[in-house]
Amino acid sequence: MRKRIIVANWKMNMNISTASIYLNNLNKRTTIHRNLEVIIGPALTLLYPLSLEIDHRKFSLAAQNGYFKDQGAFTGEVSFAMLKGLVKYAIIGHSERRIYFNEDHQLIRDKVAAATRNEIIPILCIGENKSERVANDTKRVVADQLNSALYNLTSDEVAKMVIAYEPVWAISTFGGEIPKPSDIQKVIDYIRFQISELYGAKVASSTRVLYGGSVNSDSITAYLALDGCDGALVGGASLNYLEFSKIIEKGYLIDKLA
Ligand code: PGA
Repeated sequence: MRKRIIVANWKMNMNISTASIYLNNLNKRTTIHRNLEVIIGPALTLLYPLSLEIDHRKFSLAAQNGYFKDQGAFTGEVSFAMLKGLVKYAIIGHSERRIYFNEDHQLIRDKVAAATRNEIIPILCIGENKSERVANDTKRVVADQLNSALYNLTSDEVAKMVIAYEPVWAISTFGGEIPKPSDIQKVIDYIRFQISELYGAKVASSTRVLYGGSVNSDSITAYLALDGCDGALVGGASLNYLEFSKIIEKGYLIDKLA
């Protein structure tokens, strides 16, 4: 059975003291749960202090980025080789990185490969923008992003990966339109179909597929209830521990509804 996951993508927010207070408060409001993994994606500077502070039975850590070379003269960069042992996951291919930092298919492919060879599980973000959606191009865009990023990975590596379907137009940064769960269902089904075409049905049934885009404690249940949706990637709503603890709570409850 695929373990459900909820990821907090803090983006460029929080410092050591606000993060510590947040985690302390969140910790009090959460319990250890067998079927749900909660992943915190803080800024790079917070990964080490938080790794000493968090209850690892309740929370895992994700990096928001990493460089694809393992070491060398790349001033200002931090490699996945350096993150090895510190984080379990890394968010790769987020639309903010694709759009603001011009990350292309090749770079994202190299980052996915670098994370994987350093035993960090990629949370690969894919999704179409508004004009691609209007042009009915969603499937092609998603297939391109997926096929190029997974290129060169083994079936076992793909089976362990996490894919986050994040339509760009639904992310709060880029408009935050609220999609209909039925629209998300179609794309989640298509992502699994693509993985199964490339790697077979067994791998497609192991890879975890998440939804992300303006998720909050009111909207999350409808997405978690979708067939084959294994969780959510949460940006803005993860910055408030009370709201995020409610989101986690909904993640616990979904099993009871099934
Ligand atoms: P949002 O961000 O929840 O604020 O829309 C999601 C994301 O960017 O991963």
